[in-house]
Amino acid sequence: MKASSKRSNNLQGTVSCPGDKSISQRSVIIGSLLEEDIQISGFLFAEDPLSTIGALRNLGHEIEINDDMVLLKNTRKNIYDKKVFCNLGNSGTGFRLIAGLIAGQEINAELTGDDSLCKRPMNRIINPLNEMGAKIESNKGCAPLIFNKSQLVKEFLYEMPIASAQLKSCLLLAAISSNMKLTLHEKKVSRDHTERMLKYFGANLTTKKYEGGQDIILDTNNKLRGKDYSVVGDFSSASFLIVAALITKDSSITIKNVGINETRCTLIEILKIMGADINIKNRSICCDEEVADIEVSSSALSGISIEEESIPKIIDEIPILSIAACFAEGETSITGAGELRFKESDRLMAIEEGLKRIGVSYKSSDDSIVIMGNRDLNVSKEVNIDSFGDHRIAMSFLIAGLRFDSEVHVNDCKNIDTSFPRFFETFASLGAEIKTA
Ligand code: S3P
Repeated sequence: MKASSKRSNNLQGTVSCPGDKSISQRSVIIGSLLEEDIQISGFLFAEDPLSTIGALRNLGHEIEINDDMVLLKNTRKNIYDKKVFCNLGNSGTGFRLIAGLIAGQEINAELTGDDSLCKRPMNRIINPLNEMGAKIESNKGCAPLIFNKSQLVKEFLYEMPIASAQLKSCLLLAAISSNMKLTLHEKKVSRDHTERMLKYFGANLTTKKYEGGQDIILDTNNKLRGKDYSVVGDFSSASFLIVAALITKDSSITIKNVGINETRCTLIEILKIMGADINIKNRSICCDEEVADIEVSSSALSGISIEEESIPKIIDEIPILSIAACFAEGETSITGAGELRFKESDRLMAIEEGLKRIGVSYKSSDDSIVIMGNRDLNVSKEVNIDSFGDHRIAMSFLIAGLRFDSEVHVNDCKNIDTSFPRFFETFASLGAEIKTA
């Protein structure tokens, strides 16, 4: 599916933020460990969380969807003598978290995904899970993964080699589902939704912060208590709306119910330093996650240097931050972002290819990019941009097109459904000209 965008001024209105993809997936995965039925509201009914629900159903869980609620039943079919097959589609989060869950449950299983997912590195989870006692075979470090029933150790200590919430969550799920004591040393703190949710449901989990990092300790004999859960809005989806309002003329929008967990929303601080007019209102706490409304107005932006320590907290927002950088005066440098090469696409490469098409100069290395911005950037000849099958690349360049005299066409936009199924309707409601072909 192809989509196109063209110059749009005066974006106005109030929209509600779609449910958080990371939290939606965790709510059903962690919810599957409870003994009581629970209801989940605010769930993101997009392809990735739905693949995760599909995998949990194959693992024997009864999950109903009623209107906009997910009902997780405590009854579980006996699957212990079978080999379970799960396909997580495009979802790296679903894949890596379910891998932890399966490893901790002593079952035979095969886990796979789509072409993009089957190219993503899995040794980061296979190695520590096998050290814990799992018996996982892979296709040269990639999916499909075969899980051969085996018992995990009773205690495990692990130094996180990379900042990855997916890896951290995978190991926490292996530990909690096998009653293991797990200590994780995290030098660079990644998003902490799993820790917050495990504590919300009553797990014995403590974190000890120290200069530049933290230890996460999950103790044994966790008795999780069933409680209903409400998913807050996805800051990563909100970031497309935020940047669209900033770079278009005479815009002023409000996004309601956005998750502003401090391990996720460093983009706001960065954009504010760049000169963005962003106000956070009506802060509250929902199921241990901070949530607020965000007001954004058109702003004249300036370039900024972003160093490695911020990267885990803006990891999914770097494509759209690169678009903000194109319209900011001066250089924006993003350093220490090598993990972007292992996302739904090689995102550094995909950003560079898109920048070439819209005539923006940049310098790049293995793990960095410097973008030469210009507040008057314009494109006066139609351009075609490749999404490389990546939802965040597709949405980012469609937003860039809102500033150009000529249309920007982005191919392969179907993948937007993996995280933001109402993307086109939401932007249309604000007056943005973004359309599917
Ligand atoms: C996610 C963590 C991040 C992020 C991904 C979602 C999660 O990946 O890029 O989109 O839900 O835990 P890594 O933890 O691998 O960096």
